[in-house]
Amino acid sequence: MKVVTVVGNRPQFVKAAAVSRRLAEHAEEVLVHTGQHYDAAMSAVFFDELGVPRPALELQLGTGSNTEQTARMLSALAPVLADERPDCVLVYGDTNSALAGGLAAAQAQIPVAHVEAGMRSFDRAMPEELNRVLIDHLSSLLLCSSAASAAHLRAERAVGRVEVVGDVMVDVALLVQPRARRDDAPLRDAGVQPGGYVLVTAHRPGNVDDPGRLGRLVALLLALPLPAVLPVHPRTAARLEAAGLLDGLVAAEHIRLTPPLGYLAFTALLTRARAMLTDSGGVQKEAYLAGVPCVTLRDTTEWTETVEAGWNVLVDLDTDAALRALARPRPAVRPPLYGDGQAGERVVDALLGAHSGSWSAVTGRCTDERRRRLPGPRQSETL
Ligand code: UD1
Ligand code: UDP
Repeated sequence: MKVVTVVGNRPQFVKAAAVSRRLAEHAEEVLVHTGQHYDAAMSAVFFDELGVPRPALELQLGTGSNTEQTARMLSALAPVLADERPDCVLVYGDTNSALAGGLAAAQAQIPVAHVEAGMRSFDRAMPEELNRVLIDHLSSLLLCSSAASAAHLRAERAVGRVEVVGDVMVDVALLVQPRARRDDAPLRDAGVQPGGYVLVTAHRPGNVDDPGRLGRLVALLLALPLPAVLPVHPRTAARLEAAGLLDGLVAAEHIRLTPPLGYLAFTALLTRARAMLTDSGGVQKEAYLAGVPCVTLRDTTEWTETVEAGWNVLVDLDTDAALRALARPRPAVRPPLYGDGQAGERVVDALLGAHSGSWSAVTGRCTDERRRRLPGPRQSETL
C-alpha cells in the first residue's frame, strides 16, 4: 500500500509522530509538507525531537489568507498526487493543509483517511470548523478520537466508514510527559518554580485578529495573580506588534514571553504548571493528560469531555471568570479519555484493513448500501 500523508502545521507534526514510523513498517508513506508552518520553531524542531521522518516533498506554501493558502495547496497537490498515484491520502485534523490534501485527493478519486474525524465546535465562524466538516464529508475512512466524535458523524450521515481509534496526540503525550516531568531546564530558563506559574498559549484568529478582542486577552494576562509563561505563536506576535500591545506585555514583571517552544520544552513546562490557559485544541487535551487544570480562552470547545470531567473551564476572554477558574480546586478523579496511547497502531490497522478490500465501498459511484438507504428529505427540508 502506498500512502501520501499531507501535513503542514505544528499539531500535525505531533500527530504524524504517532503514525508515520509504524506505517513505514507496513506501507510506503510519502510525507508531503505544505509549508503552512515554516519557521524552525514551528516545524523543523518537531521532526528533530519526535523522530518524524523527513518530508519527501516540501511545497513551501505558507502565509496568506485561508482561501489563498488552500487554493495554492490544491494547485500544488494535484500534480503530486497524479505523479505518486497513492492508494490513499492521509490527513490529520482541521487545518488548511488537511483540507487541501483531502480535497485534492477526493477530486482525483483517491480515498481519503481522516484522523481526528468528527470533532465539532459547532461554530462555523472558525475556519477549522469549516475545514473539519468538509474533510469529513469527502473522506472514506473516518478515524475518531472519541465516541462523541463518531456520534457527530453518524448524526451528519457522513458516508465514510467510522472507527473510534483513540487520539494519536495522546500516544505522543503519554510517551513524552513522564520524561518531560523530570526536565527542569525549561523551568529554569523561564525563571519559574514547579507549581508556581501558569503556561499560556493563544493563537485563534477569533482572539488575536480583532484588536478589541486582543486587548481583552492582554488585559486578562496582565491581571493574572501568578507568573505566566507565554510562548508566542507567530500570528499572535504579529497582531500584538501591530496593535501596539506587545510593549505592555514585555514590561509586565509576572509575564515571561518566549518564542514558540519545541515539544519537549513545552511539555516540561506544561506538566509542572499550576494551570494551563489556552485557546489551542491540542493543548486542552495535553493538559488533561498531564493532570493540569485547563482554562480555555474560548466559549466553545471540541474537547467537551475535558469540560464534563471538570478539568477544563471555558471562560472566553472574561478576566473574572478566568480568575475564578484558576482558583477552583482540582477535581478528585481524572478518568481516561481519548484512548490508551495505542491510537497510532489502530490508525495503521484501519488503513491496512481498508486497503485489503473495502475502499470501494465509499468511493467512486454510490455503491454503498448505507447511502442508498438514507431516508429522503423530511417534509420540513423540502422546498
Ligand atoms: C493554523 C491553523 C490552526 C492551527 C494552527 C496551529 C488553519 C486555518 N489554521 O493557524 O487550525 O491551530 O495553525 O498552530 O489552517 N507564521 C509565521 N511562521 C510560521 C507559521 C506562520 O510567521 O512558521 C505567520 C504567518 O504570517 C502566517 C500567520 O503566522 O500568515 C498565520 O499562520 P497560519 O498557518 O495561516 O495560521 P495559524 O494561525 O498558524
Ligand atoms: N506546542 C509546542 N510548543 C509551543 C506551543 C504548542 O510544542 O510553544 C505543541 C503542543 O504541545 C501541542 C501542539 O503544539 O502538541 C498544539 O499546537 P497548536 O496549539 O499550535 O495548534 P492546535 O492544537 O490549536 O491546532
